[in-house]
Amino acid sequence: MVAARITVNGKETPISPAAPHTTVLDFLRERGLTGTKEGCAEGECGACSVLVARPGVKKPTDWVAVNACLVPVAALDGQEVVTSEGLATADASGAPAVLHPVQEEMAVRGGSQCGYCTPGFICSMASEYYRPDRCAHTDPADGTGPAGGSEHGPNGFDLHALSGNLCRCTGYRPIRDAAFAVGMPAEDDPLARRREQSPPEPVATAYVRDDGAFLRPGTLADAVRLLRERPGATVVAGSTDWGVEVNIRSRRADCVIAVDRLPELRELHVGSDRIDIGAALTLTEIERRLDGEVPLLAELFPQFASRLIRNSATLGGNLGTGSPIGDSPPVLLALEASLVLTGADGEREVPLADYFTGYRQSVRRPGELIRAVRIPRPLSPVTAFHKIAKRRFDDISSVAVAFALDIEDGTVRTARIGLGGVAATPIRALATEAALEGVPWTAESVGAAARVLSAEGTPMDDHRASAGYRSAMLGQSLLKLYARTTEAVPS
Ligand code: FES
Ligand code: FES
Repeated sequence: MVAARITVNGKETPISPAAPHTTVLDFLRERGLTGTKEGCAEGECGACSVLVARPGVKKPTDWVAVNACLVPVAALDGQEVVTSEGLATADASGAPAVLHPVQEEMAVRGGSQCGYCTPGFICSMASEYYRPDRCAHTDPADGTGPAGGSEHGPNGFDLHALSGNLCRCTGYRPIRDAAFAVGMPAEDDPLARRREQSPPEPVATAYVRDDGAFLRPGTLADAVRLLRERPGATVVAGSTDWGVEVNIRSRRADCVIAVDRLPELRELHVGSDRIDIGAALTLTEIERRLDGEVPLLAELFPQFASRLIRNSATLGGNLGTGSPIGDSPPVLLALEASLVLTGADGEREVPLADYFTGYRQSVRRPGELIRAVRIPRPLSPVTAFHKIAKRRFDDISSVAVAFALDIEDGTVRTARIGLGGVAATPIRALATEAALEGVPWTAESVGAAARVLSAEGTPMDDHRASAGYRSAMLGQSLLKLYARTTEAVPS
């Protein structure tokens, strides 16, 4: 097996002697690439953002911005990374001579003061700059100016690309000005041209040191065998959860097994009776490839952490950790999704409603992987996802509620409601579903069902919210949905 290596700003570098848990951030900084900064080390500030060449949605390669503080460098064996230093054009001596267009706009529009956050903003901005389907908008009303709301620039720049980047001193307006001022990549732009070729293939990796091992099996069969041999191994996809454990809680694993590039876990099938979503597709890939096919998922994605996190995080990871406050389980419960689990004994399908068995526990057996999430069709037409949190983006929910209702001739035919943050596991609001089904969609019956919903689960007091607040928000969620569908508020 070839020694693990990574290409950074066009230069191939061996990963050794880094430890298996060494993050991309520490690896880069130890090699003098100190533009990449550490702010929080837990995926919340974006100061560490770098670009990685990944399989593209519209072109062979996308330049995807990720949090370097969360990803073990061994996970990028064989891959290409560009840092803020690599964006500027170098002169003959190798020193940066001409700023990249996003760097230029940030400089001239005052988008940087202390500069600590700036390289991270630059990389997130560059990822959006190179998004192949970014195109200039015009206002349909008069043919000029921006369309798509205040979050999209006239150049098609989606400000959500920066939702994972925090700045403590500039203020965001100059940064937004810079983002909305960048043009389209020039014909001879090397990173734009790089998109036309395939990204590096995933590499089977066995990076083994005295202090641990990072293993990337090349096939699903190898992954299943490895999991049988090492039942205590930590399984990772995007490392957005495990990276926090490593950095903040100093956890170390004897063996980490990465499954995020296994082809069987990266399939997407949209059929007439069901949609199968590979457990290792990133949320950004799902969002862009489904392109609104599942409206409830389309409503979830912008509220799920940040673009930086969604560029790495997977549904398999969000379900595999079994967190009671993951954002995807309430939505997938409302969609009546099931999980396709695969292991040494073959494959089995488990309804998500039967998957969670306790706090961070599930029916998934040792050695089993989540291969896909299966959503049955047809989809219920009335859907909503309400995430109640302290911030609009990049936050953890206090309560999350997802609705999928079928209302015909003014009567609720079916109701599926998923809840997060009100019990030790994500749950279905079964009593409320029963209270709604078969009754008219009126202020009176919805008001009664909202009172039932307020009593679902066993919410707790904690630093995010009180139990009383959580219960109140449950009921309010249903009233909000009713108001949206009727423009009337029940008593
Ligand atoms: Fe804050 Fe990585 S250092 S997101
Ligand atoms: Fe100082 Fe952003 S410029 S933190």
